[in-house]
Amino acid sequence: MAHNFNLKGNFPRGARGEFRPDSLDSPTLPARYYTDPEIYRRELEAIHYRSWCYVGHVTDLDEPRSYFTDRVADQSIIVVRGLDDEIRAFFNVCQHRGHHLLEGRGKLGKGISCPYHAWFYDLEGSLVRAPHTETIANFNTQEFHLKSIPLAISAGLIYVNLDAECEPFEQHMGGFGPSIESQIPDIGNFVAAHRLHYDIDANWKTVVDNFSEAYHIPVAHPQLAKVLDQGMDEFQEEYRWSYIRYRSRTGFEGLDLEPGLPYIAWQAWPHLCMLSLPGSQNLIVLRMAPNGVERCAERVDIYTPKGDAENDPNLLAIRDLFMNMFNQEDIAIVESVQRGFNSLGYDQGRYVCDAAESWFTEALLHWFHMQILEALDAFDRKTR
Ligand code: FES
Ligand SMILES: [Fe+2]
Repeated sequence: MAHNFNLKGNFPRGARGEFRPDSLDSPTLPARYYTDPEIYRRELEAIHYRSWCYVGHVTDLDEPRSYFTDRVADQSIIVVRGLDDEIRAFFNVCQHRGHHLLEGRGKLGKGISCPYHAWFYDLEGSLVRAPHTETIANFNTQEFHLKSIPLAISAGLIYVNLDAECEPFEQHMGGFGPSIESQIPDIGNFVAAHRLHYDIDANWKTVVDNFSEAYHIPVAHPQLAKVLDQGMDEFQEEYRWSYIRYRSRTGFEGLDLEPGLPYIAWQAWPHLCMLSLPGSQNLIVLRMAPNGVERCAERVDIYTPKGDAENDPNLLAIRDLFMNMFNQEDIAIVESVQRGFNSLGYDQGRYVCDAAESWFTEALLHWFHMQILEALDAFDRKTR
């Protein structure tokens, strides 16, 4: 383990006993962590309002004045490329009376005009016009700047952190971008060929949990299992991210593969999962955003070199394999598990790990839960 968790022995207890820091000897998180509105509310504040969250790619903002809106947990944000080419993020809220400023994505004029009373902000967030405010007392436009959000760019991907006092991105995520670039050197120039949205009836962690282990693949994804060799070539586990490289097998219909090509999975705190599937240049980015205690707004962005989306038959095969098959299989699984968390017949199970960290290990699942508990604990101690 690359990090010593700071938990002060404050572990939750369920029907099978206390959660333990040793994955080989611990029951899983009690089911209430997936169903309790109070825990969910604490997670928003302890995790989602203060962690680096993936929102898109620099090629989404291909020229000055282009923008997109997004949601981080329940917060609406704007990401915009300024006339100086800098990319900035702001809360999507007018400082006059709180109206939303922008919707969707597109290209702005000289700035952002509020649709309610036409307060006008430049692309750097400064209030430059506020009609009929000449005679109001003690009004200083400089105090009505849009609320800025810290932003980081790494390997072409854009991340924001809603906490103005957050730790720098580099502190724990510094190695993540280079890890992606070492496998996909041109990722900084890739474009989003597809952007898919799934409303899933499951807690956001139920969906991340499922991504974090390969134990279920031979059982629940028989077609995908044809592509994936069960040997693990590389495994790197850092505090806030991890990287696994498997090998691919041949014989999947429609996918022209050489045996042994890399099949890569990355995961980053709190809810970012990525795959690069063999046979074409691609990065599939999944973001399991919370959308209520038992709802997840999953977004899937499929990045490829420009022009490949229409022309590369392997890429089309991968997209279909992902969209029509194994993501559908996973959604059915996590919705079933979420119903299970509400069953009177279930509270905790076991992590299936092994000391050698074989391909099937649920070590990353336990690692993710340690981080959840640490974040909640740290937040509780701060606010107590
Ligand atoms: S709320 Fe935006 S101008 Fe009034
Ligand atoms: Fe799966």
